[in-house]
Amino acid sequence: MEKKKVLGISFGRKMSNTEVMIKEALLQCQAAGCDIQFIRADDLDIHICTGCISCVVGMTTGRGKGGCVLKDDFHIIDEALMECDALIVGSPVYEMEPTGNFKVVCDRIGPSHDITFREATYKEGLAAGKPESELPDKRSFKKRVGALITVGGAMTENWLSLALPSMYAFTMSMGIDIIDAYKYFGAMAYEHVLGNEKVMHRMEALGKHIVEGLFAETEEERTKWRGDKEGTCPVCHNDLIEISHSGTRVECPVCGIAGDLQIEDGEIHVHFPPEEIKRSRLYYAGKLEHSTEIKTRAVGPGQIPDLKERKQKYLHVGE
Ligand SMILES: Cc1cc2nc3c(=O)[nH]c(=O)nc-3n(C[C@H](O)[C@H](O)[C@H](O)COP(=O)(O)O)c2cc1C
Repeated sequence: MEKKKVLGISFGRKMSNTEVMIKEALLQCQAAGCDIQFIRADDLDIHICTGCISCVVGMTTGRGKGGCVLKDDFHIIDEALMECDALIVGSPVYEMEPTGNFKVVCDRIGPSHDITFREATYKEGLAAGKPESELPDKRSFKKRVGALITVGGAMTENWLSLALPSMYAFTMSMGIDIIDAYKYFGAMAYEHVLGNEKVMHRMEALGKHIVEGLFAETEEERTKWRGDKEGTCPVCHNDLIEISHSGTRVECPVCGIAGDLQIEDGEIHVHFPPEEIKRSRLYYAGKLEHSTEIKTRAVGPGQIPDLKERKQKYLHVGE
């Protein structure tokens, strides 16, 4: 049987906290018989997404396969993602969120790797008799498990407030099932995480959780949440909620699902009905809802016939 491949990607400094934490988890996977690969993202030259959307337009018109027009090192991450069966991605916290480069890579994975766009293009292309080489990479549809790690120097946990919720952007479009996530705060109270046994043990556990997910026999066991706490949202397990100002309705900003906020015995609870849970954007159905709205409601050029003339007024403003 072919060995399972576990990929670790770090956005931290070379051999600093994030990198060593990911590598500890990878070593557990290796000890369990997996092949491992590690990428230090900041060593690569990855350009920002220019917003041309040719990746998505290519797929929706059946001419492209989800590729990017930019020529840089992104293909290294892309190929590693396609090859892996499991992913451990880690980022330091910069200004309450993952690093800027983390977001750059998320945008490059973004819509171009959305499995609902890719699957539709793949199936339509096959039906039209196109060769595999002209279709989206079929490894895109592999079921994968993943874990997120974030590291903040601050002693106060709320300085990491948006980090883990934002990190789902890395795995969402590919439909990678996140089964564990760990937020290490107070990193600056230690010279290095290697001086913090508790965190290093937690990384061993995280690696073992990935192995459990990889070799699980049922879908339920594969996707079982193995994080430290259940959290408020039953899908992403984050505690971030958005007030909708419509009665007691709230939303999970990561999943895009609505729930009802209740106070029971003085504690806040959010009840997310099953029909909402099913449409989380972390699941296929939620992504399909989005790709369908784009395909059916986004308008192309020509809706405003004098658009070029109208833009003239703004062309050189403030230059
Ligand atoms: C630009 C910048 C912004 C930072 N902002 C935060 C922050 O908002 N919250 C926090 O907890 N730590 C913050 N830190 C500290 C880093 O999270 C910390 O140094 C972390 O250990 C870096 O990870 P690494 O050691 O894996 O590189 C910031 C560091 C930098 C360089």
